[in-house]
Amino acid sequence: MQNRISITKSKKTKIDNVDFNDLGFGKNFTDHMFLADFKDGEWQNARIEPFRNFDMHPATSFMHYGQAIFEGLKATKNDKGETIVFRPDMNIKRMNISAKRMAMEEFPEELFFEALDKLLTLDEKWIPTAEGTSLYIRPFCFSSEAVVRIKKSESYTFCIILSPVGAYYAEPVSVYASEKYVRAFPGGTGFAKAAGNYGGAIAPIEEIKDKGFDQILWLDGIEKKYVQEIGTMNFAVVINGKVLTADLSEGTILPGITRDTALTLMKEMNIPFEERKVSMEEILEASKNGTLEDAFGMGTAAVISYIKTIGYKDTIIDIPPVSERKISTLLREAIIKQRRGLVEDTHNWIRKVNPVLA
Ligand SMILES: Cc1ncc(COP(=O)(O)O)c(C=O)c1O
Repeated sequence: MQNRISITKSKKTKIDNVDFNDLGFGKNFTDHMFLADFKDGEWQNARIEPFRNFDMHPATSFMHYGQAIFEGLKATKNDKGETIVFRPDMNIKRMNISAKRMAMEEFPEELFFEALDKLLTLDEKWIPTAEGTSLYIRPFCFSSEAVVRIKKSESYTFCIILSPVGAYYAEPVSVYASEKYVRAFPGGTGFAKAAGNYGGAIAPIEEIKDKGFDQILWLDGIEKKYVQEIGTMNFAVVINGKVLTADLSEGTILPGITRDTALTLMKEMNIPFEERKVSMEEILEASKNGTLEDAFGMGTAAVISYIKTIGYKDTIIDIPPVSERKISTLLREAIIKQRRGLVEDTHNWIRKVNPVLA
């Protein structure tokens, strides 16, 4: 399709109804949204419209069979007042990997960037500027054919909505390594950002919260021994000066963009790390012999999130206090600087929004 996006501007803005001092997460939405339809074998009708509800046929297939995927990234302003987005190429690539796994249609990368440019330019005034705040970008795609039959849909809708979000205070979190529930196993959809992965996690997370923990630490689906990831973050521990994080080879873990950023920076900062299987027994042993130095989550929302305790069977593993966490603190600061465009962008990670609407 031609890379043309038609624009219908909203007649009035809702921005005055929003309290930018109390944004929370994902509850306020900007004035516009991007939409495109996949029909007759191609993406078409790419458009920006005033933000609105969807009107859907009750047989719309994603509501029944879950062909639905999404992404999450953030726009901020740099110190020149330009709108910047961190590694959006990784998001659209991951979205297309998710699409393939879910037998959905891939979305053209160039059209995605053009959609971001136009949408972020139109809704630029919604980008909050206070420390730690940002404009959360939620691209998503779902099967839209109205048919009650399990099959690859003939039609899809791709949409991008924007939500100004508040500062995410990375309070140290407690996690519980559950042997009862499984998120992913080889051959499944763990590596995809598929809606069903999250729907299936809600009951286990509620159960963990009832036990007094903040988040679930998923173990591998076969032996229930090896750590995979946390609800919406990749996971790492530091044992004896070395960062250990699960490798991606089995396709059971979401390949996080923050994880990739952290590993790249670790290489450059000469912080030793290994991507490999890490068992709960190894973490328990390190805790007992005093070599467990740090544990943290990595994700777009909290950047680096300190983990204060890990529950496992009937044991609580305490991680040293945040004041002693050299590696996670170093990484957190380095990634925030990269994301905000405060250091030289030697990796080409920052994409400046091109403020052209035509
Ligand atoms: C299951 C899961 N793991 C890890 C992550 C971290 O990925 P990213 O760093 O790309 O936000 C996320 C967040 O998207 C997630 O949902």
